[in-house]
Amino acid sequence: MTTVRTNTIGCGRGGNGCAASLNNVMQPLQERNGRLSMGSIPIRQLAEQFGVLPKQAISISSAGVLSEGIMGEGAAYIYDGNRIVDNYRKIRDAMSDAQGRFNTRVYFALKSNSNPAIMQLLASEGCGADCANYNEIRIARMAGVPEGRMLYSGNNNPIGEMLGALQIGAAINFDDINLFESLSGRCNGELKQNVVSFRFNPGTGLGENAKITTGGEGSKFGMGEAEIMQAYRAARERGATRFALHMMTGSNTREVEPFVEQVKEQVRLAGRLCNELGITLEFIDIGGGFGIPYLPGDSELDIFELGRQLTQAYAQECGRHNVRNSAGGIPDLMMEPGRYIVGDAGVLAAKVTSVKNSFGRSIIGIDASMSTLMRVAMYDSYHHILIDGREEQNMRPADVVGQACESSDFFAHARLLPQGIRTGDLAVICTAGAYGFSMSSNYCNMAKPAEVLVYDGEAHLIRRRQGFEQMVEGVQMLPLMQEA
Ligand SMILES: Cc1ncc(COP(=O)(O)O)c(C=O)c1O
Repeated sequence: MTTVRTNTIGCGRGGNGCAASLNNVMQPLQERNGRLSMGSIPIRQLAEQFGVLPKQAISISSAGVLSEGIMGEGAAYIYDGNRIVDNYRKIRDAMSDAQGRFNTRVYFALKSNSNPAIMQLLASEGCGADCANYNEIRIARMAGVPEGRMLYSGNNNPIGEMLGALQIGAAINFDDINLFESLSGRCNGELKQNVVSFRFNPGTGLGENAKITTGGEGSKFGMGEAEIMQAYRAARERGATRFALHMMTGSNTREVEPFVEQVKEQVRLAGRLCNELGITLEFIDIGGGFGIPYLPGDSELDIFELGRQLTQAYAQECGRHNVRNSAGGIPDLMMEPGRYIVGDAGVLAAKVTSVKNSFGRSIIGIDASMSTLMRVAMYDSYHHILIDGREEQNMRPADVVGQACESSDFFAHARLLPQGIRTGDLAVICTAGAYGFSMSSNYCNMAKPAEVLVYDGEAHLIRRRQGFEQMVEGVQMLPLMQEA
């Protein structure tokens, strides 16, 4: 059976109580008479300026090749920089210990959105970087993040990369003791100077669904309690002197209680490290996972309530289990949010390229694909879709699909959308700021989209649309082809 989901701007106008909930998923757009804008700039103007709706006509050169102009056409991610900063500040303020018993560190998870200009904006606010590999360390450096505010937290990464991270002084979080052992055999005392952390898998996980749950028995991440005790013991024997503890068990959780329960479990383990092994901890990293609404009607995570309960539980449990840093105080509370900072601050804008009927279904094709925004095909995620300038009268269910040669290349199934949608309209896919561009690929030889940041009323191109030359960079033709 097909489920029809409502998807209208009008949902917000009928006085039926869903204005606020629609607002949740429309962030950071403003709407007036069906026309959308971001940071006071009409979204259509941005779309025209950055090639989503290019004004110039398609032209074919005399050689029969598409002109360069048309190569600049395509979907674009558009972000609201002010919203990104506000989201970061909300977490920072919510998680600060009101009683001054410990410090809080917020490190942005670059995997959620790795545009260096976005990291630069966050770094200017004092935010650190959570890096999954050495390329992310490089992005953090490009963005001006100081080395002391970087965590290298990879999975099965090569030793050479880890050495690089060590040498610049980043704290290193190991997923397994084997990785630590391989590294310690290759370095010259850096493991004594850098903070060494291991990832704890408490045997249960958070997360909106199984695909974004990163703790529990079936997870590939981290170590159980017995293994992790052994890992710290071994690391200390091998000369490590500075320690921290890491845990990240899932993404997109919008309730307070699971985070509080998990931090208690993590601090209990920290107590064992301190009391049984005599280790002190510089920080305890609770990972990311703070959720955001994607569907109208989804509840919001109350970040201030989370902060209140979490910081209280953290201080209390650290006291109860006698968890200390080397100065005898409470270790810093660290977190690595990604989605919460950028998710609702970005949209994917794409042109409607076709409208057809097939077996009684209405199918709207857009100038993007699962290679541009992977989340729907990969996780079955919901992204709200707005059509700029189309009023919501006469709605009808429609599928919204992309250009890839894949049956899973959908943005929406049987979604209620305005009946009057036409080719050339502008589709705006909401809540696409996290795991959007960063998961994009060149599948089907589609160029990666442009990225635009609106900040303090000005629009900045922060990544050009990928050109064909960039897509084939590094390709070597066979000698036989060259001779032909
Ligand atoms: C180790 C680690 N830290 C942080 C994050 C960011 O999570 P989120 O975007 O849910 O905040 C992830 C995401 O999977 C992660 O694996």
